[in-house]
This record gives sequence, structure tokens and C-alpha cells, in this order.
Amino acid sequence: MLPTIEWNGDAAVMIDQRKLPSAEVYVTCRTAPEVARAIRSMVIRGAPAIGVAAAMGIALGVRRSRATGTKRFAAEFQKTCDLMAATRPTAVNLFWAIDRMKRMFAAAAQAGCSVAEIAQRLEAEALRIHDEDVASCRSMGAHGATLVPESATILTHCNAGALATAGYGTALGVIRAAVEGGKKVAVLADETRPFLQGARLTAWELVRDGIDTTVITDNMAAALMRQGEVDLVVVGADRIAANGDVANKIGTYGLAVLAKEHGIPFYVAAPISTFDLGTRDGSRIPIEERHAREVTHVGPTRVTPVGARVRNPAFDVTPARYVTAIVTERGIARPPYDVSLARLAGGRHGAATPESSLP
Ligand code: MRU
Repeated sequence: MLPTIEWNGDAAVMIDQRKLPSAEVYVTCRTAPEVARAIRSMVIRGAPAIGVAAAMGIALGVRRSRATGTKRFAAEFQKTCDLMAATRPTAVNLFWAIDRMKRMFAAAAQAGCSVAEIAQRLEAEALRIHDEDVASCRSMGAHGATLVPESATILTHCNAGALATAGYGTALGVIRAAVEGGKKVAVLADETRPFLQGARLTAWELVRDGIDTTVITDNMAAALMRQGEVDLVVVGADRIAANGDVANKIGTYGLAVLAKEHGIPFYVAAPISTFDLGTRDGSRIPIEERHAREVTHVGPTRVTPVGARVRNPAFDVTPARYVTAIVTERGIARPPYDVSLARLAGGRHGAATPESSLP
């Protein structure tokens, strides 16, 4: 399986996603600030993957301070959590992972563990978050594959694959599971300006797996849908509000509107850790505005004139009414999402069949 992020005992090792597909380079992060820099600079990206990275970053941070006294150790732990939380604002998986590490810290401290034991438990928790993410992607894939016809052309946006998770992927997990189940699947990968996650990462992953892949520029989706060349859309998510509004890579909203206009199912695949049920609707989701250079340049080449202002919101919000279903590791949620998402998050496990659709 693709090594997105691994723990080598002393460091978090990540494939440098900025360099793909031209070069397979690995970055070794030995400290929490190194992990934070890797997240901020997009060495590692994708909602579940940055959650895993943050957890490993915290585990690295406490290693450094485990020789200190308990009070200082707790303060350093909090500082490291804050450092991780300040890396990227939209993907809620990041905050979910940090919360899990905080809960583990509190439980270990409560149990009277020594500083060294707390550090050990935090490392184990980070590895659990990693392994659980792979398992939940596989389960999501099994559920989502039931939505894919025997033969289908699937449009996807950004990269919601192995590279965006600890492995296998969310949206690409659904595609992989459909292919593994013997379905005849062709993928249209949206280029995904400005950072080109679709052209660079999704296409790289899928070609590597021998899956039929065609890259299109973002502005081609409408025409292809109109010509009947798209059977369904499946994307990932960075945060899903209680009412089913979905924040995902900029451009997702447009695709969802187009899919509705053309009568094409629009599916979102995301783990429960992407749910933010404390946020009522998408208008309250913070949207990251990234550096203008991602828009003004393609690689080293400037493509806009000096003096033109630039906007670079990295995500948009798709209102729930455009979302046909949300695929999770626990089953498939259908509208009304305020009911079905709460039920899934409450721990009801479904089977990998269409009957598991909720409510
Ligand atoms: O800015 P990125 O590359 O981190 O954005 C990633 C996305 O928008 C993905 O679609 C989302 O995180 C889902 S990943 C399984």
C-alpha cells in the first residue's frame, strides 16, 4: 500500500506530496515543529492524513519534554497541541485527532501514569489513529461500492485517495473497492486548480493501481456531464456540518450543482471523524484562504500579470440539498442528514449493503 505517512519509532516519515508525480521523495519529521511545517506547506494534505500527522507530531513533541517535571510536561503538551491546531483551519479531522490525544493525555494523567508512560500512551494513540483510518477507509469503500453500477464512469475532484488518508482513501477507496469487486470503472480526475491535487496526485495513485484514468481540466466537467459521459460523482470532505452541508476542495460546490442539473448522483465519502455535528450548517465552517502564489504561478512559471489581485479560498461549501448520499465507515447516510448523520455518529453500525442506508 502507498506509504502516505509512517511512524518509524523516532519520526513521522511522509511522502512529499508537493513533488509528486515527478519525484518520490520522503520527508522525515523528528520534531513537532517539523510536522507542523509539513502540514502547513502541503508535504502532507487531505483531511484524515493531516489528523494522523498532527497526532504523530504531538507524540514527537511529548518525547522531547518527557525529561521535564509533570507541570512543565503538561504545559509543553498543550503548546504542541496549539501548534498543530494552528496549521490548517478547515479540515475538522485535525481537531478531532488533537482532541483524541488530549483525552488520552487526561486519562493517563488521571490514572497516575509517569511522564514516560504518558508519552508512551500518546505514541500508541497516534498509531491507533493511523491504523483506524486505514480500516475505516476500507469499510467506507465496501459501503460505497454498492452505489457503483456494474459499469460506470466516475468523476472525482481533488485527491481523496490513499495520499489524503493513512491509506486506501475515501472517495478513491469507493472506486478501489468497486474495481476490486469486479466492476468496470473508468475515472475522470478533475485537475483541481490551483494546487493540482487531481492531476498530480489522484491520477498518479490511480494509474499506479492500473485503474482507467482520464484527467480533465475543471472547466470540462459541465460539457462532459451534458454529453452523458459521467455516471456519478464521488468526492471526499474536509468537514460535514450537522445539517449535511459539506466543505471540500474549492470547485466541489460547482460540480454538485452541475450534477443535480444533469440528474447525476453526487456522493460524498468521509469518515465519522469528518463530521462536525457541533456546527449547525456550512456557513459556520472556517474556509482557509491560501497564498496567492498558488494561483499566480504554475510550478515556477508566473501565469498572471503583476498587479492583478488574486483570491485563493482553498475550500467551498456544498449545501446538503445537492448531496445524494454520504458514505461513511458505518454505512450510508441519506437525507434528511440532521437525522441520519446524528444516528451514524451515535455509533449505529451498518452492514456493507444498500440496506444500511440511513435514515
Ligand atoms: O487542500 P487539501 O489538498 O488538503 O484538500 C483536500 C481535500 O479537499 C480533500 O478532498 C479532502 O480532504 C478529503 S480527503 C479524504
